[in-house]
Amino acid sequence: ALRRPMIAGNWKMNGSGTLANELFRKFTSKLKNDSAEVVLCPPTIYLESVRQQLESTKDSLNGSLVRMGAQNVSQHDFGAYTGEVSAKMLKEAGCNYVIVGHSERRRMYGETSDIVADKFAAAQKNGLTPILCVGESGPAREARRTFEVIAEELDIVIEKNGTMAFDNAIIAYEPLWAVGTGKSATPEQAQEVHAFIRKRLSEVSPFIGENVRILYGGSVTPSNAADLFAQPDVDGGLIGGASLNSTEFLSLCRIAM
Ligand code: G3H
Repeated sequence: ALRRPMIAGNWKMNGSGTLANELFRKFTSKLKNDSAEVVLCPPTIYLESVRQQLESTKDSLNGSLVRMGAQNVSQHDFGAYTGEVSAKMLKEAGCNYVIVGHSERRRMYGETSDIVADKFAAAQKNGLTPILCVGESGPAREARRTFEVIAEELDIVIEKNGTMAFDNAIIAYEPLWAVGTGKSATPEQAQEVHAFIRKRLSEVSPFIGENVRILYGGSVTPSNAADLFAQPDVDGGLIGGASLNSTEFLSLCRIAM
């Protein structure tokens, strides 16, 4: 395929040091090199134990690509920002990816699109690939403002980071009404928005439009994943709840192949 599918597991503030262990025990024997690229995004405090698992199982991963991402990053390089972690620190800790602009952070921690665009920049500047989350709320969808909201969230990143911003980035479409609700978008709803995102980016750069991976997130489970991932513009998933269950998560990685 043109775009290698990706499954990213966002543990949010869940999981434990031993979850990493369990996941790797399963991956090591089960995944093959033709599988989706896997990204594990544990809470920051567990990055080191995930890194150790990665290191100690790397020879037995059958060539499959399992990498690590953080759930958030500071927009600043260093300084008096209590509780924050910089992109450089995440890179040093072994991350390749970082989620930016997750709706939980936008909604509960006051992250504006402006701040999100700065975090995106900080990630790229330090060699991390940002996984940018975009998505409309339930009321915005009902008011038929879905495309408008998504376009705004993308455009500010392009304005601040230039037309090549998405050359090294992943996009995750996560409708807010589908996150953690058990009510996933239908495959048609997901495809419609994914196609919109790809078209918008193609207008900036046809190369990027064709190559950027766009993940769907929001109540993905092994029972609805096949139809979602079969959509032409859906390149995998950003998985919350189901990433905490190693059997379900592994099954999602296979479905995305
Ligand atoms: O980042 C992951 C998403 O917010 C999806 O979460 O799969 O629990 O709905 P969920």
